Amino acid sequence: MAATEKQTLGFQAEVKQLLQLMIHSLYSNKEIFLRELISNASDAADKLRYEAIAKPELFESDPDLKIGVAYNTEARTVTISDNGIGMSRDEAIAHLGTIAKSGTREFFSKLTGDQQKDAALIGQFGVGFYSAFIVADRITVNSRRAGLPANEGVRWESDGSGEFSVETIDKPTRGTEIILHLREDEDELLSIWKLQAIIRKYSDHISLPILMQKEEWDSEAKKMVTKDETETVNQASALWTRSKSDITDEQYNEFYKHVSHDFAEPLAWSAARAVRPVGSQPARRHQALHQARVHHG
Ligand SMILES: Nc1ncnc2c1ncn2[C@@H]1O[C@H](COP(=O)(O)OP(=O)(O)OP(=O)(O)O)[C@@H](O)[C@H]1O
Ligand SMILES: [Mg+2]
Repeated sequence: MAATEKQTLGFQAEVKQLLQLMIHSLYSNKEIFLRELISNASDAADKLRYEAIAKPELFESDPDLKIGVAYNTEARTVTISDNGIGMSRDEAIAHLGTIAKSGTREFFSKLTGDQQKDAALIGQFGVGFYSAFIVADRITVNSRRAGLPANEGVRWESDGSGEFSVETIDKPTRGTEIILHLREDEDELLSIWKLQAIIRKYSDHISLPILMQKEEWDSEAKKMVTKDETETVNQASALWTRSKSDITDEQYNEFYKHVSHDFAEPLAWSAARAVRPVGSQPARRHQALHQARVHHG
């Protein structure tokens, strides 16, 4: 049985360094935080599908994988949720307190100290979860790993300075909810238009539906009102199923980065976009995407 009391732990030194750098040099690219969190939610769904091949019970009674994006004007929060694999308490400590990825270590070895150059360098690596601290001064993560009981959920919380806390919580639904408590000047994000625009710009290619609560103009009240239904914001279809003329260069590039997990822009492509560099495509990711495509038709 895991510990249930609240614990405060320090970030690994590299994480502190990364956070400092990100908050100070990535500000002009701050919208990427949403792409990163949605990409993590999509990875979590891939992991669930993969583990469920051997253990179908992991789907519990909730087999339709999806991603939710919501905002709350009073609380000044933006929340990204998924019903993917989720994290246990130990996994939250390991994955949201350290940097395991070798690529990130390589990234540190390439830093020059010149902000301009370093910001460009960050763009070539996955900045991942920590990029959310560009727009948030506190992040709360509520998660429960698929297969664990409802009372073995975890709440991870940090203000991005040096420490984070973890405590055990009840979480009836499987998966992860990431609540961003926005920095003072980030109110622009508290809008369905803004969030939808960012999702369509960077995450349109994600094969899972990205859902937002529907809002409609009420001509009597003369304001937007929130409806009881959700709508899918992204195209929710793999880009390769769409006709070439529907696809912008930007969308194609985002898609390429997602598939290859290579954050460099595609090196070369013909005007007809027939030539696609495939050298660095990890087979696992490709397979997961393929599965996703089959799953969603
Ligand atoms: N929504 C989520 N569900 C489950 N696990 C998550 C979720 N978000 C993050 N994690 C865990 O936290 C880890 C760190 O995420 P982060 O985005 O920083 O790195 P990454 O996704 O591994 O790599 P990168 O984003 O740089 O390509 C993930 O590898 C995963 O284990
Ligand atoms: Mg990531």
